[in-house]
Amino acid sequence: MSKLVIRELHKAFSKNQVLKGIDLDFSSNGIWTILGPNASGKTTLIKAILGMVIPDSGNISINGETITNNWKYKDKISYLPQIAHFPDNLTVNELLKMIQELRNRTGSLESLIKEFDLKPFLNTKIDTLSGGTKQKLNLSIALMYKNPIYLLDEPTVGLDPIAVINLKKILRKLKREGKLIIITTHIIPLVEELTDKIIFLLEGKIKFCGLKAQLQQNYSSKSLEESIAALLQD
Ligand SMILES: Nc1ncnc2c1ncn2[C@@H]1O[C@H](COP(=O)(O)OP(=O)(O)O)[C@@H](O)[C@H]1O
Ligand SMILES: [Mg+2]
Repeated sequence: MSKLVIRELHKAFSKNQVLKGIDLDFSSNGIWTILGPNASGKTTLIKAILGMVIPDSGNISINGETITNNWKYKDKISYLPQIAHFPDNLTVNELLKMIQELRNRTGSLESLIKEFDLKPFLNTKIDTLSGGTKQKLNLSIALMYKNPIYLLDEPTVGLDPIAVINLKKILRKLKREGKLIIITTHIIPLVEELTDKIIFLLEGKIKFCGLKAQLQQNYSSKSLEESIAALLQD
């Protein structure tokens, strides 16, 4: 089991104070969803966990070890960036080969290529792929190695319905395997269906962290959508 703890995390980009003291305990495995309006700091928080954004103050630890100046922990994290930057002049196959050579580790790609219907595109140059197909490639790269922790930043963006169904299958399987999975999304039905815990980020602070049912109870709402609307007006 992976325990991820965030304490008093602050981050500003010049005068823009994005994270204003974030405290979080990812104390159980399963699917946690970070919700929040655009520009509320979801990606910044995920990048801070990965050491890609250096916080101004605060601490992040994984299984009791602080992540600052400790690069080895990243081997335990599978990361899906919100915006992927691929070398455009390669074909899909060339990129997948290159990644495995660089990591010196063969990924389990066969089932991902099937689930995300990438076979017809293996010899296609990446810069000619559609947005949705690029996202399928992004997902395949993020999911090809098994790890205890998954950070998936807006995984469903651009996906067709079949790909969404297959992604949900994969997420459920990872959950059964006891992984800690943190996703960001704006798709409420996805949250209703899959998520165990919700984190709501607003104006740099955690406005809510807990079970879906608790959020609905707090606002006596019939649906999760209504509770989120109530939370925003609170
Ligand atoms: N590298 C950066 N330099 C300057 N500002 C940034 C940078 N990254 C993010 N921001 C700003 O931080 C805020 C939060 O961004 P982000 O974490 O991407 O939000 P979200 O993922 O919730 O949409 C936004 O106002 C964004 O413009
Ligand atoms: Mg984002």
